[in-house]
Amino acid sequence: MIELGFDGRVAIVTGAGGGLGRSHALELARRGALVVVNDVGGSVNGVGQGQTAAQRVVDEITAAGGEATANFDTVATAAGGSAIVQHALDTFGRVDIVVNNAGILRDKAFHNMEPEMIDAVIDVHLKGAMFVTRPAYRAMREQGYGRIINTTSASGLFGNFGQANYGAAKAGLAGLTRVLAHEGARHNIRVNAIAPVALTRMTEGILGDLAAKVQPASVTPVVVYLAHEECQVTGHIYSVAGGRVALVFFAESAGVVLSEVTAEAVRDNLDRIEDLEGYLIPESLDEETTIIAKAISH
Ligand code: NAI
Repeated sequence: MIELGFDGRVAIVTGAGGGLGRSHALELARRGALVVVNDVGGSVNGVGQGQTAAQRVVDEITAAGGEATANFDTVATAAGGSAIVQHALDTFGRVDIVVNNAGILRDKAFHNMEPEMIDAVIDVHLKGAMFVTRPAYRAMREQGYGRIINTTSASGLFGNFGQANYGAAKAGLAGLTRVLAHEGARHNIRVNAIAPVALTRMTEGILGDLAAKVQPASVTPVVVYLAHEECQVTGHIYSVAGGRVALVFFAESAGVVLSEVTAEAVRDNLDRIEDLEGYLIPESLDEETTIIAKAISH
């Protein structure tokens, strides 16, 4: 079996000072990638900062014979995002891979969620991914090559109590993945996302029996594949945990065309509207529009 190698490829992994990001960075570097290990080094709630976490991962990579550079800028501002990408360009001359992984938690039931908890979480996860990806995407577009991997979550895709800020940001990342997949297609830029489950400081104490089976290293191979030149899928979202890999997709029921659109007709037809038999998986807004046009054409 030929190993998927990354010689000469430059990867940025955000939030790579620990947990999943560290695992992705180590493995990409082991396979020959030149890695920017970015991390602000704060707490799981995004408080404080430090250079130890990112530097330690760079030291691990270097000790193993790999090549990496530490970066301590925040993903949460446009200036920070640009600085991270500039760091990759200044150090390694190009950027081929961006793994948007940095994240924080500020959980609270929605009625108690303060505005600053909304801002902080959306800034790091959703705006952060956009702030890092935008300058990287420009460089990728120019070179006609790129691989972008976003980190979404079951919380945003399926729902979870106490995570309105986090879930909304993570669902936003699914939307970003879908849109950028379309925009990047003709430039050989593939954009996919993972929704992982892994034992990290973020999930310590909440995984129960699953904890022992979901090490970060069991998620990383999916990221490595999606980061590779061979990967041609784009706009896909994979649930990844403990060796299980599944495709998460957006589908819609075949639907019903109401002869008279009234609130009562909606009530009376709800079972038919929600009948999943013959469901459809549109690949784009255009495809869904075509489905709608066809349904209402007669
Ligand atoms: P973690 O807390 O170990 O890693 C997150 C890293 O991001 C930390 O090292 C942190 O310092 C860094 N970070 C935070 N804010 C930053 C900023 N503004 N700029 C740069 N770096 C920043 O947690 P974990 O579990 O490794 O999380 C990685 C990603 O995976 C996150 O996006 C998280 O939401 C996501 N995720 C994790 C799951 C799990 O089961 N562990 C489940 C679903 C999603």
